Amino acid sequence: MLDTIRVLLDTIKDRDPAARSSLEILLCYPGLHALALHRLSNRLWRLRVPLLPRLISQFGRWFTGIEIHPGARIGRGVFIDHGMGVVIGETAVVGNNCLLYQGVTLGGMGKMHGKRHPTLEANVVVGAGAKVLGAITVGANTRIGAGSVLLRNVAPDSTVVGVPGRVIHQSGVKIDPLAHSALPDAEARVIRNLMERIDTLESELARTQTCLREVAAGRPLLEACGGVAQNLKDREILEFLGDADQRGGPTSVP
Ligand SMILES: CC(C)(COP(=O)(O)OP(=O)(O)OC[C@H]1O[C@@H](n2cnc3c(N)ncnc32)[C@H](O)[C@@H]1OP(=O)(O)O)[C@@H](O)C(=O)NCCC(=O)NCCS
Repeated sequence: MLDTIRVLLDTIKDRDPAARSSLEILLCYPGLHALALHRLSNRLWRLRVPLLPRLISQFGRWFTGIEIHPGARIGRGVFIDHGMGVVIGETAVVGNNCLLYQGVTLGGMGKMHGKRHPTLEANVVVGAGAKVLGAITVGANTRIGAGSVLLRNVAPDSTVVGVPGRVIHQSGVKIDPLAHSALPDAEARVIRNLMERIDTLESELARTQTCLREVAAGRPLLEACGGVAQNLKDREILEFLGDADQRGGPTSVP
C-alpha cells in the first residue's frame, strides 16, 4: 500500500503543476484517495473475497465522488484529476500513465455481458466529461476531447472530439472530417448534408411545378418538361424578361 501511495504521489507531482507538497497531495487529491482504495479493493476482488471489495469501492465513491469497480484494471502512473463524477466499469482497462479528468465515464453500452467496457492503452488523456462506451480499444497516446462520446476503436496517436467522437488529428497530421467545412463536428456535417438535400429537393419541386403549370397552359409535355433542369430563380428571370420583351420592356409594366 505504501508503495502504491508513493507511486501515486510521484505521478501527481509530475503531472499537476498545481501540486505543491506531498502533504497537500495526500490530503487534497481525491484521485489519489480513489486509486489507493481501488488498489485494495482490486486485490481483494482478485482473491475472490465476497462483498468487501464492493464496499470499499462504495466507500471510495462516497468519499471522493469517483466510482471505480473493483474488477477494473488500472495501470501504473494513472492520474485522475479533480475526479468528481468519474465512473470506471468492471471490465475497463486503463493503461499506464493515462490521465482522466472529472466526469469521465468508461462505461458499457447497457446490454452486453463479459468484456463490455473500454480498454485505454498507455498515455491516453480523456478530457472532462468525455464518455467512452463499449468494449472498444483506444490506442496509446490518444487524446479524447472534453465532452466527447466515443463509441469506436481509435488508432494510437489520435485526437478525437465530438459526439459521436471523430478523429481530427492522427500522428500529428490534421484530419478534416468535413472536406467543405472546418468544423470538426459530426452533427454540423449531418445538418449541412440535410440542408443540401433540402435545397436539391426544393429546386426539383419548383421545376416540376413550373413544368406542370406550363403543361396546364397548353405547352407540349416534352417541350415544357424536357431539357436541362433550371433553377427556379433563373426561370423566373427568363420568364419576366420574355414577358417584358413582348410588352415593350419592364418599365411599361404598371
Ligand atoms: C481535444 C483536445 C485534446 C484537443 O487539443 P489540441 O490538439 O490542442 O486541439 P486544438 O485546440 O488545436 O483544436 C483542434 C480543433 O478541435 C476543436 N476542439 C478542441 N477540443 C474540442 C472538444 N472538446 N470538443 C469539440 N471540438 C474540440 C477545436 O475547436 C479545433 O477546431 P478547429 O480546427 O475548427 O479550430 C483538447 O481540446 C481537449 O478537449 N482537452 C481536454 C482538456 C480537459 O478536459 N480539461 C479539463 C481541465 S479541468
